[in-house]
Amino acid sequence: MINGAVGVIGQAVAERFSREGAVVVGVDKVEHSVGDRSMRADLADEPQVEAMYDAVVREHGRLDVIYNNMGLMDAGDHSALDTSLETWRRVQDANLTSIFLSCKHGIPYLRDTEPVGGSVINAASFLSALGSATAPMAYTAAKAAVVQLTRDLGVHLARSGIRVNAVLFGPIETPAQRAVFDRNPGALDKRLVHWPMGRFGTLDEAAGAIAFLASDDSGFLTAAALPLDGGITEAFTVPD
Ligand SMILES: NC(=O)c1ccc[n+]([C@@H]2O[C@H](COP(=O)([O-])OP(=O)(O)OC[C@H]3O[C@@H](n4cnc5c(N)ncnc54)[C@H](O)[C@@H]3O)[C@@H](O)[C@H]2O)c1
Repeated sequence: MINGAVGVIGQAVAERFSREGAVVVGVDKVEHSVGDRSMRADLADEPQVEAMYDAVVREHGRLDVIYNNMGLMDAGDHSALDTSLETWRRVQDANLTSIFLSCKHGIPYLRDTEPVGGSVINAASFLSALGSATAPMAYTAAKAAVVQLTRDLGVHLARSGIRVNAVLFGPIETPAQRAVFDRNPGALDKRLVHWPMGRFGTLDEAAGAIAFLASDDSGFLTAAALPLDGGITEAFTVPD
C-alpha cells in the first residue's frame, strides 16, 4: 500500500515494489493510475482512511506493507512568526494527521495478516533533525512529530512482528526540489557547501531505501529514523 502515491518518490517506490512482484495499491487525494489498484482518498479524513483500508483488505485479503509517502510543503509556511494558523493546520493535516490516521487504521490489518508481521514506513525529512534559519516551521515540526510517532509505535509493536520506521529524506532529485533552486539563483551553491556528497539523491536511491525497509533484510530494524541524506545530518565540515 502506497499512500500519497502520486508523489514523485511515491511513483518510484510503486515501480520498485512492482518489479519485486508486489501487488501495489496506490492512494492519493488526486485522480491517478499509480499501482495495480489506484484509489482516491483524503488521507487526513478519518472516515475515508477507514473505508479505504477496509476496501483494500476485502479485495486483496491481506496487507503486508504500508508506505506513507504523503506530504505537503506550503508556500505560506515560513518562520513561525509569519505563518498563519490556517497554513499551520493544512501542513499538519497533510504531513502528520494523515500518517497518524494511516497507522491507526492500517496497522490493525497488518496484525490480522498471517503470519503476523509487516512493515510500516513513514516519510519524514532531514530538516526535522537540524535547526535551519530558513525552515518552513510547520513542515519541520510535523516531520519531527512523525519521527516521534514512528519511534513510539515501533517500540509499542516491537514484539508483534510489525516494524515501524521512518526515512529522513535529504534533498532527492525531484522537479519540485529543482524548481525551488531554479527560482532562487545562487541558493544551490549556498546549500551544496553543507552537502558532503555534493549532489541530490536519486529516485532509485530513495526507492531502494524504502524497498529495504519493506523487506525482511531490515528485519531487526524498528522504531528507527533512517537518514537518507548523503551525510548532511552527520557533517560539520565537508570535503572541498
Ligand atoms: N523530495 C524530497 O527531496 C524530499 C525531501 C524531504 C522529505 N520529503 C518527503 O518525502 C515524501 C515524498 O516526497 P515526494 O517528493 O514524493 O512528495 P510529493 O509532494 O511529490 O507527493 C506528495 C503526495 O502526497 C499527496 N497528498 C498530500 N496530502 C494528501 C492527503 N491529505 N491525502 C492524500 N494524498 C495526499 C499529494 O497529492 C502528493 O501526490 C513527502 O512526505 C515529502 O515531504 C521529500
